[in-house]
Amino acid sequence: MNQVKFSYFLRALLAVGLTSGSFALQAQAVDVAAAEALLLTNKCAKCHSVDKKKDGPAYKATAAKLKGKANAEAELFTHLTTAPTIEIDGVKEEHQKIKAKDDAAVKNLIKYILSR
Ligand code: HEC
Repeated sequence: MNQVKFSYFLRALLAVGLTSGSFALQAQAVDVAAAEALLLTNKCAKCHSVDKKKDGPAYKATAAKLKGKANAEAELFTHLTTAPTIEIDGVKEEHQKIKAKDDAAVKNLIKYILSR
């Protein structure tokens, strides 16, 4: 490769790096207002709060438990969408299935929970 071509090559690499970097940032951003609205309409606060244990664990405790786990988002997606069996004071019941307009809204909420 001659020098001119090489410098084009470097610039192209840099451009790809910059754009993919900003896409990654966009993918990480949490819409806090949308997440909190979804918690409200689903009445999740009956059993959860951000930092206090109620019948269910605090979101902070869940975030701490799953920190650094590669499949954390997938695990919570399954938890929220498949009504797994949970136990409250020794009584088994189905976990509430979340009602949201689409999967993206659920994933945004999961990012919110994991970033508490
Ligand atoms: C009737 C009470 C109740 C309601 C309502 C409820 N949850 Fe839960 N939730 C629980 C309990 C209890 C657990 C603990 C389950 C376990 O650890 O086995 C739990 C677990 C969780 C977890 C942690 C899962 C994990 O793997 O650590 C998340 C996140 C969660 N709930 C979110 C929600 C959201 C969001 C809503 C509203 C759509 C909701 N919950 C509604 C009781 C509830």
